[in-house]
Amino acid sequence: MKKIHRIAVIPGDGIGKEVVSEGVKCLNALSEIFESIQFEFQTYPWGSEYYLQHGKMMPEDGIEILKGFDAIYLGAVGDPRIPDDVTLHGLLLPIKFGFDLYVGLRPVYLFPGVDCPLTHVSEGEIDIVVVRENTEGEYSNIGGIVGVGDREQALQGALFTRKGIERIVTFAFDYAKEKGRKKVTSITKSNAQRYGMVLWDKIFKEVSSRYPDIRTESKLIDAACMDVVRNPRGYDVIVASNLFADILSDLTASVTGGMGLAPGASFNPKDKTYPGFFDPVHGSAPDIAGKGLANPIAAILTAKMMLDNLGEKEAGNLLYQAVRKNLAEKKVRTMDLGGRSKTHEVGDDIVRILRFL
Ligand code: NAD
Ligand code: IPM
Ligand code: MN
Repeated sequence: MKKIHRIAVIPGDGIGKEVVSEGVKCLNALSEIFESIQFEFQTYPWGSEYYLQHGKMMPEDGIEILKGFDAIYLGAVGDPRIPDDVTLHGLLLPIKFGFDLYVGLRPVYLFPGVDCPLTHVSEGEIDIVVVRENTEGEYSNIGGIVGVGDREQALQGALFTRKGIERIVTFAFDYAKEKGRKKVTSITKSNAQRYGMVLWDKIFKEVSSRYPDIRTESKLIDAACMDVVRNPRGYDVIVASNLFADILSDLTASVTGGMGLAPGASFNPKDKTYPGFFDPVHGSAPDIAGKGLANPIAAILTAKMMLDNLGEKEAGNLLYQAVRKNLAEKKVRTMDLGGRSKTHEVGDDIVRILRFL
């Protein structure tokens, strides 16, 4: 009996389209290798082109349509012709908020065969998981702009709730415990952000006291950015607010080989009513889009996280091993890693390795 996984695919914009097709290619190969797995892909052409034609990023009932799937696989959205706040508040954020996908998981690892921009750091020595609060904080969309001319004013709110902080911090500790990780670092800016972030620090202390076997640390975001570069080995699990974890996940990607390798997953670990949402950390990269230069590995590792979330751990592990081998071989790689291969050639190579492992 085959287990059927129904996946909504949203290639999106720019390199999103190029990298997602490589992820789907790998998933199709896995369904041939594992007789018990079958995928049903439904592709939606939502994103910036759709916006230019219809005045919205996805149809009115987009969320309703996505509800019925087991997972959502996205490339990226964002187009220089459309203001970024329009594209992102029109698709990405409604999905995360609408389905209450409060965990954003963004792991990075310095793979063998990948150069680290930092000196004196060896393969495997950076292994960080950023746990991002995904449904409130600085992304709460509270505020407005009033006035004209020199009376123009903007108010930008950030909502931090006890429930929201408690559940993400608890997830970070449970995750650390389950994965045998040793330390959780909370990153805030409670010296300047006196309300939301002070509440965050307080709740972090309360929750951490329930996990005596896990080391904890609280850092300010400015010092943490400096320290991740100075001492990346000092970080294990990081938990932070929506905005800070967003920034930190580009930083942790850059010290482990760049945006082309950094995957992401958004899900609700307590309530499986709605599908999880899987997209790499990177954006649509208009500077390299349409040229076959994008590294598809971030999207392929994102597909691996989707497999884990769907309960297909064995297939996920095989995909991970294939990526590892491709990187270690240093033969078929895109420009960001110093290679000359095209996006689809890297996907093909990973499929070749999958069949041979
Ligand atoms: P970006 O991540 O798209 O690109 C930053 C840099 O990294 C660029 O130089 C790009 O060429 C490089 N890069 C990114 N992914 C790569 C890959 N797979 N292989 C090789 N190089 C890669 O960030 P940006 O330029 O700030 O954003 C571009 C657009 O994407 C904006 O509209 C932004 O709002 C949007 N965005 C969307 C998402 C998403 O949909 N999940 C995420 C981030 C940014
Ligand atoms: C990401 C992106 C988005 C975010 C933007 C594009 C809204 O940067 O997924 O990291 O900050 O959530
Ligand atoms: Mn980001």
